[in-house]
Amino acid sequence: MKNKNVKQNMKFSKIQKHIPVIIIACVVVITGAILFFSSDDIDKVKVSREALVSEFTGAYVEDIEPNGNIVEMNMTASESEVEIFDGYKTKVWSYNDTVPGPEVRVKLGDTLRLNFTNDLPQETTIHFHGVRVPNAMDGVPGVTQDPIKPGESFVYEFTPKDAGTFWFHPHVRTSEQVERGLFGTLIVEDDVDQKYSQDIVWVIDDWRMTEDRQVYEEFNTPMDLMHDGRWGNVMTVNGKLNEVLDVKPGERIRLRMVNASNARIYMPSFKNLNAKIIAVDGMYVKEVFDFGELELSPGNRIDIDITIPQDADGQVFELVDNFGREEIKLARIEVAGQAVATPEFNFPVNSEVPDWTGASDIEIDKEYRLNARRKTGEGMGMMGGIEWTINDKAYPDYDPYTFKYAEFNTMRFTNESVRLHPMHLHGQFFKVIARDGVPVSEPYFRDTVLVYPRQSVDVALVPLDKGLWVNHCHILEHAAAGMLTAVEVR
Ligand code: C2O
Ligand code: CU
Repeated sequence: MKNKNVKQNMKFSKIQKHIPVIIIACVVVITGAILFFSSDDIDKVKVSREALVSEFTGAYVEDIEPNGNIVEMNMTASESEVEIFDGYKTKVWSYNDTVPGPEVRVKLGDTLRLNFTNDLPQETTIHFHGVRVPNAMDGVPGVTQDPIKPGESFVYEFTPKDAGTFWFHPHVRTSEQVERGLFGTLIVEDDVDQKYSQDIVWVIDDWRMTEDRQVYEEFNTPMDLMHDGRWGNVMTVNGKLNEVLDVKPGERIRLRMVNASNARIYMPSFKNLNAKIIAVDGMYVKEVFDFGELELSPGNRIDIDITIPQDADGQVFELVDNFGREEIKLARIEVAGQAVATPEFNFPVNSEVPDWTGASDIEIDKEYRLNARRKTGEGMGMMGGIEWTINDKAYPDYDPYTFKYAEFNTMRFTNESVRLHPMHLHGQFFKVIARDGVPVSEPYFRDTVLVYPRQSVDVALVPLDKGLWVNHCHILEHAAAGMLTAVEVR
C-alpha cells in the first residue's frame, strides 16, 4: 500500500505539489489577522492544560514533612446512650460515648495515631472525610482496607497535609452507622496561631426519631431511596437541641460548621449578623465572601469569621436554615458581658487558589451520568428495588477511570434524575468550573459539590495523591443503593 501511494504522489503536477504550501500560507495569514484583531478571544483559546497546572502550583502542598510530634489517642465505637431530650435516654452508636464523637485537634505537621477498637455488633471502618491521607488510611472496605470486625482493632496513622476543618465517619453500612451517631471532627490547626477569641466547631445533624425518642431503626427505606435520602425530624447541633455559643461584645470568632446529616441539605445563615466565609471543605478560600448563600450539603464544611459588634450586649443571633420552604432554627449565639477589643488581623485566605479562567474551554475528560433505575430481580413491589447509578452501573459494579497524576483533569457530573446529589471525591480537592455549561468561578476548592436535579456540574482538579479513591453521592442512602464509583490516580 505504501509504495503505491508514493508512486501516485510522484505523478502530482507542480501546482498540486504546492497546494499544501498555499493552504498553510492562508492559514497563517488568517490566524495572524484573528490574533491581531481580537486578542480577547484568543486568550481563551490559548489556555492549555499546562498553563492551568502551573497556575495551580503552590495552591496546596504535595506532601508534608512530619514535625515529629505524635498525637496518640484511643477511640472505641460502641453502643451507648445519650440524653438529647430531657429525661429520655436515646440509644446510639458512638465514638467514645458521645455524639458527636471526639473533636480531635492536631497542629499542621503533627502525626495522628488513632488506636481504634470496634465494639459494635457490626463491621466498620473510619474514613477521614476531606483529609489527603495515604490511600491505605482512607477507610473504604474492599477498596483500601478490610472491614474491621466486631472486637477487632486497627491503627489509623497519618500526617494531615492541610490545615482546616475535617470530619470522620464509618464507610461500612454508612447510612445506618452515621445515622446512629458515628461521626467526629478532625481539626487541623495552622502552625501559626490565628488569634481568634474563640475557635468553635458546630456539627449539624438531623435524626429520624420515633415518638419515644429513639433512632427509627429502618434504614434505606424504599421511600428514602426513591427520594433525597433520609431526612430527619429532629435537628441537633453538637448533639443538642438548643446549642448556644456564649460570646462577649467585640469578640472575633472562628466558627467551623460540618454537616453530618445523612441527606439533609442546609442553607445556613445568621439573622442580623454579618459573617465571612474563610474556608470551604477545610481549605482557605482565595477571597472571603458573605456567609448565607452557600449550601452545606452532607459532607461539606464551611468556616466563618464573625466579629460580634461592640454594642451587641444582650443580643441573640440565630443560626437558621432556609434550604426548605420553612425556616429552621439550628443554634444561636448569645452576647453578654463587657466588650473586649476586637482582635485585628487579615482574613486567613489562600491567595494561591487558581482562578482557572478559561478552564471550562478544556475538553471534559470523563462524564458521570447520575440516575436511578428499578432493580431487577428482587423487591419488585410498588416502591421496592431502586438502585442509583453512575453511568448505568450500580456499585460494586462500576466504570473504572484513571486520573493523570499532577495533570489538569476534568470531569462532568450530569444529573439525569430529579433528585439532589452532593458528589464527593475522596483524597482530592477540585474546583467547580461550570454549571450547565456556563463558566463559574468559585474562589475555593471543594471535596463535595451539590448537583441539582437535571443540572450538570463540571469540575477540574490536579490530583497529587496517588491511589484508588472512591467518588460517591453523600446522600448516604443513594450511595448505599449503588451511587458510588472509584477512580485511580496514577
Ligand atoms: Cu464523607 Cu466517602 O465520605
Ligand atoms: Cu444522590
